[in-house]
Amino acid sequence: MLRTIVVVGTLLLGVGAVMAQQEIAVQQDNLMRGQAKSLYDVMLKMVKGDIAYNQAAVDAAIKQLEESVPKIATVFATNPKQDVVNATYGSSQKIWQNKADFDSKIPPVVKAIADVKGKVKDKPSLRVAYNSINDRCNDCHETYRVKLK
Ligand code: HEC
Repeated sequence: MLRTIVVVGTLLLGVGAVMAQQEIAVQQDNLMRGQAKSLYDVMLKMVKGDIAYNQAAVDAAIKQLEESVPKIATVFATNPKQDVVNATYGSSQKIWQNKADFDSKIPPVVKAIADVKGKVKDKPSLRVAYNSINDRCNDCHETYRVKLK
């Protein structure tokens, strides 16, 4: 009886750990998706003319990025050792072998955001801002993001 309880308890702990790992991966993915919303769904779409230029939306997107990007180091502190179910992109294991190098990719994004904050006034300046931020996002993705499908 006692042994059964121990075995079931251990199994439940195992399931709990797997779920927690998936939650960590989802949290990391959600952080990226939030940034993508601001940079791609707002800024890039305006640059391309898919949606009309809107100063309030630009300012809100830049503010969201300013708040979200510095959280990357902490949100990626733990290795979930698994990808989000059905995700297009996953994390390279290299992140947790070179966490200091991974973290070093964050300040350039923070700086690119700070450099354009308050300076985007029209489509041409938005294009410059978009490119300078996006290039820095990609500096990290090139090394640490893996395309899964
Ligand atoms: C320090 C590294 C780093 C920086 C900087 C970074 N990312 Fe990521 N990003 C990742 C990693 C690792 C993944 C893959 C794991 C994931 O999706 O959570 C990822 C995934 C993504 C994805 C794919 C999400 C999905 O699964 O569909 C998008 C979109 C994205 N990032 C956008 C951005 C944008 C926009 C910026 C800049 C504002 C940015 N990232 C900055 C590391 C970074």
